[in-house]
Amino acid sequence: MPNSLQDIISPLHNYLMALYQKYQSLKEGKVADYIPELGRADTDWFGISIVNTDGQIYQVGDYQQSFTIQSISKPFVYGLALENYGRETVLNRVGLEPTGEAFNSIVLDAKNNRPCNPMVNAGAIATTDLLTGEDSGARLQQILKMFHLYTGRRLDVDIPVFLSEKATGSRNRAIAYLMHNSGMISDRVEETLNIYFQQCSISVTCNDLAMMGATLANKGKNPITGEQAIKSHYVQDVLSLMHTCGMYDFAGEWAYRVGLPAKSGVSGGIVAVVPGKCGIGIFSPLLDAKGNSIRAVKVCEELAKDFGLHLYGAVEPTYDLAFSMQQPYPFLTATSSG
Ligand code: DON
Repeated sequence: MPNSLQDIISPLHNYLMALYQKYQSLKEGKVADYIPELGRADTDWFGISIVNTDGQIYQVGDYQQSFTIQSISKPFVYGLALENYGRETVLNRVGLEPTGEAFNSIVLDAKNNRPCNPMVNAGAIATTDLLTGEDSGARLQQILKMFHLYTGRRLDVDIPVFLSEKATGSRNRAIAYLMHNSGMISDRVEETLNIYFQQCSISVTCNDLAMMGATLANKGKNPITGEQAIKSHYVQDVLSLMHTCGMYDFAGEWAYRVGLPAKSGVSGGIVAVVPGKCGIGIFSPLLDAKGNSIRAVKVCEELAKDFGLHLYGAVEPTYDLAFSMQQPYPFLTATSSG
């Protein structure tokens, strides 16, 4: 059912519908089940949402389905740590280099004992330690308040997923104590871990992800509410790290094929940012061996190719993004015959 006038008249909506139908039948991959609650996901769930920097929304499929944000929280909490402490302090605690290893790698940077970057679990636990607030409740509220600014709505923690994460989080506990041992995180190790597990368990929809992406695309200002979710001068820090480290050990290939800053999470979400233009949020829980959603990666590759979104692309796109977002029915106008 069309959700708004925009859905009826937009050529982009029709394009997304066709893309959704094309990949809906793709059943490859596996739902993450190392956190037992995540294993309950329905493999048919599939939603795509795009929000542009004018605040227009284009959405198809299960765009209202909730799922937990997981590692997509990481770049946003990194942004919060930067706002709390500034670049220098944050850089002393977490580096900027891709690891080429899985997200739960226990390796720290050999020279400084820092976690390599804020997109892997070690770095994310270190940035969660850089939240402010007198107690764990206040620190969690800082995260929820930030996500409210990005999405324009109040988000909550999915308690069963949180408890499941906590009950199975020994590896994250090991990473946190190792960092505590080398002075990279404070003494409140268990408290920080609890907040990290809760931050991963915040419930979102792919429309929320698109709003978050659109806010980063719009220099940190939510294009619908007009609220500034992150100071504009930190947006480049967040996007650079998403570009180099956002897609686990697939980050290099992603940068080559799609060419956009992005972050994925093990529940099957991906957020991608087209600076100055739009945010893209996709959700489908079937994952490849590296932990990325198979349908979401395919959709991003196709969007990047068809609309010429690759940041270093110099090829005339098949379709013009601004035109397809604004022109009325029917369908896309090709800018080339190919
Ligand atoms: O730490 C974990 O295992 C999860 N809560 C986060 C997983 C995730 O999405 C992986 N990301 N880098």
